[in-house]
Amino acid sequence: MPDETKTERPALPQGDTGTKTVFIKSYGCQMNVYDSQRMADTLAPAGYVETTSPDNADLVILNTCHIREKAAEKVYSEIGRLRVARDERRRMGGDMQIAVAGCVAQAEGEEIMRRAPAVDLVVGPQTYHRLPDLIARVGGTKKPVDTDFPVEDKFQVLPAPRREKILARGPSAFVTVQEGCDKFCTFCVVPYTRGAETSRPVAGIVAEVERLAEAGVREISLLGQNVNAYHGEGPDGRTWTLGKLLHRLARIEPVTRLRYTTSHPRDMDDSLIEAHRDLPALMPFLHLPVQSGSDRILDVMNRKHTSAEYLRLIETIRNARPDMAFSSDFIVGFPGETDADFEATLRLIEDVSYVSAYSFKYSPRPGTPGAGMTDQIDEAVKAERLARLQALTEGQQRAFNQASIGRCMEVLFDRKGKHPGQIAGRSPYLQAVQIEADESLIGTVAPVEITTTGAWSLHGILAGTRPREAVA
Ligand code: 5AD
Ligand code: SF4
Repeated sequence: MPDETKTERPALPQGDTGTKTVFIKSYGCQMNVYDSQRMADTLAPAGYVETTSPDNADLVILNTCHIREKAAEKVYSEIGRLRVARDERRRMGGDMQIAVAGCVAQAEGEEIMRRAPAVDLVVGPQTYHRLPDLIARVGGTKKPVDTDFPVEDKFQVLPAPRREKILARGPSAFVTVQEGCDKFCTFCVVPYTRGAETSRPVAGIVAEVERLAEAGVREISLLGQNVNAYHGEGPDGRTWTLGKLLHRLARIEPVTRLRYTTSHPRDMDDSLIEAHRDLPALMPFLHLPVQSGSDRILDVMNRKHTSAEYLRLIETIRNARPDMAFSSDFIVGFPGETDADFEATLRLIEDVSYVSAYSFKYSPRPGTPGAGMTDQIDEAVKAERLARLQALTEGQQRAFNQASIGRCMEVLFDRKGKHPGQIAGRSPYLQAVQIEADESLIGTVAPVEITTTGAWSLHGILAGTRPREAVA
């Protein structure tokens, strides 16, 4: 491939201004969004500034997702587009390096270079703190591929973001506290791509949250592939649960909101339920994936709980915090799923009544037990079931939004609205809320009276600002 021949480049080549531009595109989950931010932090001391378009970037990093086939395939079409942009830049005398990071990188490693020779380097989720070194090796005899599970902890070496960077990312921030998963659900690649469960020590998390709070962040979402399995080392030398960690983080002023995602029903322990009961800062919203409502399918999925146990758990959490709202993930068409199994899922959805939901057609993933199961479901059946399930969950979401009219909700404003003069934010239940108000409110939490609902968002007015004559 003549256009892949590399000439020797200096380590971390510098442009005229001494700076280089990097464009990082995240696919998939929120942890990838967090990792992308930390990649940018890692590259900042090496002179890289972020840019909003790949076309003018010296380095493009695709931070990929391997969870479903479609997600993984998207990466290869994007590399094809980047290759055209890179060739154009080369014609103009410039260049572009292309890096693949994230779970596709971890799962496919060198195979990526074979399938997409335009890629210059491959880096896994546990080694992106080594990016500056890897970039320096591009152009050498062998393209760098680093998908180790290293002994060093990347969180110990990642540089902290600068204050302006934190502010630019907005008042709501992610913090990874746990990585990997030991559950081995039979459909899921995560235990293979992200490895065994590990938890960050409490001290590093507290320091990171304090820094974010000091810079103006008001909402922290703790992230982990199986976040409520958190068991990090506390400053007292003991193992802390997520409930205990949340109690500690709730003392950091002036963070006003805490969230965590994604949780496994089996790991909702008493300390976490007590945190929901006791901590006003812990938002009354929980993403608690159930995947299926059929006990037979739950068993084959290796979910380790029944639908009745899940429903009892929902009730226990609602007893601890009555205004609690739930969302979930669902998979339709898992191997062997009958009409009766699917109906059981619809019944569970009716029983819980979710305020939002993510649902997917089962996608066989190489190397997982589900992919080898013989009774795979026809694509047309999957599509039909997905449409029925989504009609139900979208109806529940609309009903919840409708029932919000007339309620007063605390909204964290995090951005400008769609139209001039509007600002937008999130309710405690993660509903998007738009109001007409001054931009100076962005970054603050304020009470909003909900007046109308649109297709996907709520509209309201700042509480106490309703014109007198309009008050009944
Ligand atoms: N096929 C379809 N959906 C999947 N998910 C995970 N693996 C698969 C798969 N092989 C869904 C699950 C999970 C969410 C993140 O993605 O619902 O909770
Ligand atoms: Fe995948 Fe979640 Fe199951 Fe772990 S608990 S294997 S991350 S679906």
